[in-house]
Amino acid sequence: MNRYEVIKMTEEFVKLNLKSHDSGHDWWHIERVRKLALFINEQEAIADPFTLEIAALLHDSVDSKFAGDDFEQGYVIIGEFLDETGLTEIKEQVIGVIRNVSFSNKNPSGNLTDPVLLIIQDADRLDAIGAIGIARAFNYGGFRNNIIYNPDIELRTPSTISHFYEKLLVLKYRMNTLTAKRLAAERHDFLETFLKQFYREWEFGVTD
Ligand code: ADP
Ligand code: NI
Repeated sequence: MNRYEVIKMTEEFVKLNLKSHDSGHDWWHIERVRKLALFINEQEAIADPFTLEIAALLHDSVDSKFAGDDFEQGYVIIGEFLDETGLTEIKEQVIGVIRNVSFSNKNPSGNLTDPVLLIIQDADRLDAIGAIGIARAFNYGGFRNNIIYNPDIELRTPSTISHFYEKLLVLKYRMNTLTAKRLAAERHDFLETFLKQFYREWEFGVTD
């Protein structure tokens, strides 16, 4: 199998795994992360582009299909897939990246300075901010049946606006590469513009 065929097979594997998941983690999220990751690497030239593309495609496969207790089984299946497609050589690296990529991972382990990991983390975080990030947040909030905003008990009730403060507004400071920091600046500004307008409309007639 040549590299093009391996990429196509990986795309199919990923699409199959993502089917049952919420649309914030859908195929288009994977596609955007792949594009962002490859772009960042074009600027930075720190990772092997092929390994990066495979890892970007697979980065949410375990999370989405095996959400629950069965994460380890998810890694086994990805390992088998990589063996079958002749990618045994990069198997450990790719699985290591998938394990560590998530913002919510409280127990990172292994090679935390792998450039493939650093770039995919950046790409994944960039897709959580800016206009797309806002769309994904409200989509997720709807999926969980969360309210959009609660002005009275904002800090205690999970709302999508409170998620901005818990996660989205800090992501700009968590970027690894200079290219991602540059891209994050514009997206972060857009979050702030959005919030300003949101409160302005919410307070309509009260402040001005
Ligand atoms: P990761 O796996 O990268 O840590 P998540 O799976 O937690 O990310 O989040 C996926 C998407 O859903 C992101 O765009 C994130 O901002 C959004 N999201 C996660 N939790 C919430 C929440 N409580 N309210 C609104 N959006 C959320
Ligand atoms: Ni992701």
